Amino acid sequence: MNSYKQKYEEHRTHFENYLQSACSRMDFQPTVLTESMRYSLLSGGKRVRPVLFFASMEAFGADYRGAEAFAFALECIHTYSLIHDDLPAMDDDDMRRGRPSNHKVFGEANAILAGDALLSYAFDILLAEAGKSARHLAAARTLSKAAGAEGMVAGQSADLMYTGKNSDEDTLQFIYRNKTGRLMAAPVAMAADLTGKNHAEAEAFGLTLGELFQLTDDILDEIGESQKLGKTVGKDAAEDKLTAVKIYGLDGARRRAEVCAARCRELLREMGLRDGFLFDLSDEVLHRDR
Ligand code: IPE
Ligand code: IPE
Ligand code: MG
Ligand code: MG
Ligand code: MG
Repeated sequence: MNSYKQKYEEHRTHFENYLQSACSRMDFQPTVLTESMRYSLLSGGKRVRPVLFFASMEAFGADYRGAEAFAFALECIHTYSLIHDDLPAMDDDDMRRGRPSNHKVFGEANAILAGDALLSYAFDILLAEAGKSARHLAAARTLSKAAGAEGMVAGQSADLMYTGKNSDEDTLQFIYRNKTGRLMAAPVAMAADLTGKNHAEAEAFGLTLGELFQLTDDILDEIGESQKLGKTVGKDAAEDKLTAVKIYGLDGARRRAEVCAARCRELLREMGLRDGFLFDLSDEVLHRDR
């Protein structure tokens, strides 16, 4: 295993252990609530956002041990966004993380509530952290802003609004920046907040990485393998989603992804970083097949 893969595994495993023990302490009633929250949290996503948080803390010269709650809150919000994204009223997807979507197992109403509960739980976790110091409070605010009407929810709203319609690059950029960029930038920006580093620079890198991530998500929906991705493919074209493939074509989207990855490296250098995990992660997002 090369050192990048080893590091990713190290961060991912650290998060997975934290998540396992946090989930085992959950005891919400009725039990269906706990079961449906656990079902989606523990179904083995790539955990790229928590890994990005740990890696950013390290890149900024800090220990992430003791700050895992921020990664956990973020993964709760991300997981809720996926549960709701898959609902029949949204993307209507039956498969997620290699298993039936939450609503296929627990029913639509319970899936909505599992999402609601995960979002609220994330804020409970963040509030407990926010009291620790001004830096903790700043990091908590960063995530809360990224999640809602100025962030992921705005992107999802625009995504739905432009499904089945033609629009332009600016609209696509708005959707990308908000539905994916903000929750990808949050771990980097939270790490900057916690370590007293430059928030704007961290956010700019995270947003570009998020754009790259959604470019490859759209490309993989067109040409990827369902087995590897753990979700249905070909759905964007079927639903006439406003994606990079629709606006730029497959080759155009690939070229934009190359440009985005190069820009990620540039932004990391502007942050004063030299080769290392975050550079490799950007390349990995460009070349990913899952
Ligand atoms: C899927 O996110 C939703 C997008 C923003 C494209 P991920 O690809 O990170 O999903 P998991 O967490 O690995 O399942
Ligand atoms: C989802 O974008 C972004 C979210 C905020 C969940 P997509 O709808 O393309 O994500 P997938 O392809 O279903 O994972
Ligand atoms: Mg969607
Ligand atoms: Mg979707
Ligand atoms: Mg997609």
